[in-house]
Amino acid sequence: MAPKLKKLVLTGAAGRLGSYLREPLAKMCDELVSSDLAADIGTLYARETYVRADLSDLAAMEALTKDADMIAHFGAIGDEAAFDAILQSNIVGAYNIWEAAHHNSVRRIIYASSIHAVGMYPKTDFIGTDVPHRPDTYYGLAKCFAEDLAQMFWDKRGLEAVCLRILSCAKVSSARGRFMA
Ligand SMILES: NC(=O)c1ccc[n+]([C@@H]2O[C@H](COP(=O)([O-])OP(=O)(O)OC[C@H]3O[C@@H](n4cnc5c(N)ncnc54)[C@H](O)[C@@H]3O)[C@@H](O)[C@H]2O)c1
Repeated sequence: MAPKLKKLVLTGAAGRLGSYLREPLAKMCDELVSSDLAADIGTLYARETYVRADLSDLAAMEALTKDADMIAHFGAIGDEAAFDAILQSNIVGAYNIWEAAHHNSVRRIIYASSIHAVGMYPKTDFIGTDVPHRPDTYYGLAKCFAEDLAQMFWDKRGLEAVCLRILSCAKVSSARGRFMA
């Protein structure tokens, strides 16, 4: 069994995936620091604390990730939006997370990327994880930026990252949803 982490930071803790992740992540570490823009996230699990912070604030991200072993970076605008909003939360936010992680010698970031990073490939194509980016939205473009940021910080600074291209994590309520069109 993998050794327990000391401090784990979860961004996007008030969101859909963050809400699913809080309980299992709290069991993996001595201290889970959950963070989001929300005023609060309800009842906290054992060993969990909550910090309200904006991803676009570098100083806040540096304070949040101090002494962390790992960051699960799930905070972002979770769908297509105006470019200015994507720029602050998803692009500047990702930059701040990686800069703060490096500043604080965090070992690893788990990043919630998306299939929208490669959304312009025809749905009938079987593509690998190593194909060039072909984003279908500003949202997908921001995922490409963060994936490249992760690669650059690994190549230049040895900061580990795992970028998960999540397909969909939502209740399937239609035939279209099952097909993932
Ligand atoms: N749910 C899915 O099916 C799916 C699929 C692919 C990728 N993803 C990715 O997974 C992550 C989580 O998705 P979700 O469905 O839980 O989204 P969500 O919208 O439910 O949660 C995202 C959270 O990020 C927070 N956030 C946004 N901007 C912020 C900022 N500037 N500072 C601090 N917090 C901020 C929001 O307040 C929200 O609680 C996102 O990065 C999303 O792009 C989700």
